[in-house]
Amino acid sequence: MIKQLFSCIGEYKKESLLAPLTVTGEVVLEVLIPLIMASLIDKGIVLGQMDVILKLGGILVAAVLFSLTFGVVAGLYASRASAGFAANLRKKMYYTIQDFSFYNIDRFSTASLVTRLTTDVTNVQHAYQMVIRVAVRSPMMLFFSLLMSFRVNPRLSFIFLVVIPFLGGGLYLIARRAFPVFNRIFRAYDRLNRVVQENLRGIRVVKSFVREEHEKKKFNEVSRQIYTDFTLAEKILAFNAPLMQSAIYICLLFISWVGARMVVATTMTTGQLVSLFSYTLQILMSLMMLSMVFVMITISRASAERIVEVLNEEKDLHNPEHPVMTVKDGGIRFEKVSFGYSKNPNKLCLVDVDLQIESGQTVGIIGGTGSGKSTLVQLIPRLYDVTHGTVYVGGVDVRSYDLQALREQVAMVLQKNVLFSGTIKENLRWGNANATDEELIAVCRLAQADGFIRAFPEGYDTYLEQGGVNLSGGQKQRLCIARALLKKPKILILDDSTSAVDTKTDALIRKAFREMIPETTKLIIAQRVASVMDADQIIVMDQGRVVAVGSHDELLATNQIYREVYHSQLRGGDDHGAA
Ligand SMILES: Nc1ncnc2c1ncn2[C@@H]1O[C@H](COP(=O)(O)OP(=O)(O)OP(=O)(O)O)[C@@H](O)[C@H]1O
Ligand SMILES: [Mg+2]
Repeated sequence: MIKQLFSCIGEYKKESLLAPLTVTGEVVLEVLIPLIMASLIDKGIVLGQMDVILKLGGILVAAVLFSLTFGVVAGLYASRASAGFAANLRKKMYYTIQDFSFYNIDRFSTASLVTRLTTDVTNVQHAYQMVIRVAVRSPMMLFFSLLMSFRVNPRLSFIFLVVIPFLGGGLYLIARRAFPVFNRIFRAYDRLNRVVQENLRGIRVVKSFVREEHEKKKFNEVSRQIYTDFTLAEKILAFNAPLMQSAIYICLLFISWVGARMVVATTMTTGQLVSLFSYTLQILMSLMMLSMVFVMITISRASAERIVEVLNEEKDLHNPEHPVMTVKDGGIRFEKVSFGYSKNPNKLCLVDVDLQIESGQTVGIIGGTGSGKSTLVQLIPRLYDVTHGTVYVGGVDVRSYDLQALREQVAMVLQKNVLFSGTIKENLRWGNANATDEELIAVCRLAQADGFIRAFPEGYDTYLEQGGVNLSGGQKQRLCIARALLKKPKILILDDSTSAVDTKTDALIRKAFREMIPETTKLIIAQRVASVMDADQIIVMDQGRVVAVGSHDELLATNQIYREVYHSQLRGGDDHGAA
């Protein structure tokens, strides 16, 4: 884990080294300052030596200035190093996520990925900043201050050996109590993010089902939990202050009491007593800082683990060593294909599928909801790998292709489609960044989108707010089809992509496909029989199996399921005449 994280320090190694170095300078000076002060008092002020006062005073001022400068510079280096480290970490995670297959994405929730990219990275950033600064400073300060105080007066300094274990033990107990609470808080943040994200993404559904009250309750529960835990954590940490204060006062009282007698008995000078006071503060403060670092590091360990989990996620799709770079044609063959989303062999979503689709054919896929239609077509551009059997495209196993080359040739309009904020033109060019305006218009005509786009005052430059909230469902679907067409693919897959388009326009789209892109293999998943009845072959699916393949007339004569669906839709009064 540490190795993974350290590799992200990258170009910020210099800052990461300079921060502890300047901190060392700061500590050395800070430890020397009480000593200079002691000399100033004993040799200057007490003896009334003006020249000594001036000389030592000058050195003192210089030491203070240098120590302050070192402190500021250390702070700068530490924040630059930690911010850079965090930026590298975020970038590496983001790039890793871009390479995730659908299988990888299924394993993490979106909300948890967002928390990992934001909150967790920030935690690790703070911890790193502390490690290269405070975690260097405090132990060093503790050590040197102890050393100096023993040099000044070993007898008095024994008080530290009594107080430090007592304070350290107390701080340790506090940190140990607080740690699980903090851990819980970060998990609650995960939940809070999920609740808010799902709510915002589904705000229309929430409103139409009048679920606002339920959503508010869900939100309040998580929010309340975070509040309670934070209060608890603060309560535990609040013990830090009295513990610290009592330790400081015990030491100061003891040193003043015994020290004053020593000064009177002239076994110790006033300067030495004053310097001991400074060392007391330095020792105890660094002990407290150390306990804070301890808490911070333990908290961020959970965050670091969650980050590394993303970085180490095993990618389950790999490019072959000598990939095939060109797809010969749009022929598709399934050979004894079985597939399950989980690695559990008993949970198969596709069982023993055999299919033969010639290049250029139009194929309809029909079947009940959850019968495996989307699952079947996702294997063609290798969004998932088969569990058993082989999928061939253009006569070659899809696993032998270069992933990008394969996906260039297989355009898929997903069931849950997404447009991005930007103009219509920009969205279409996702299909092909270099397409000319004429090409854009041509594909939009094919997808029956040209008409409604021109009806907008800004035409093709119309801005799509937030992924197309200002479009109707059917308009969005047609834009997605046009975007896929722009890739000029050898295989075009429409997964329920005309469900929101009226039957007449649906028929026009299919007619345009037949006439304008005859070489492209077209796979059309549909709920309406009318959308597939003119296809070369229709695949009927039921519970993960292909139960029948044939033309409309053949299936009507031989297949019970198909006949039932067809007749129920006829009775439903769909205007099938349009097809
Ligand atoms: N990402 C996924 N992870 C796990 N299981 C999934 C996933 N996607 C689908 N499934 C399961 O696979 C089965 C087939 O789903 P699929 O989406 O292929 O059905 P479909 O025929 O496309 O249905 P619909 O007509 O409703 O779109 C279902 O039982 C579903 O629960
Ligand atoms: Mg589906």
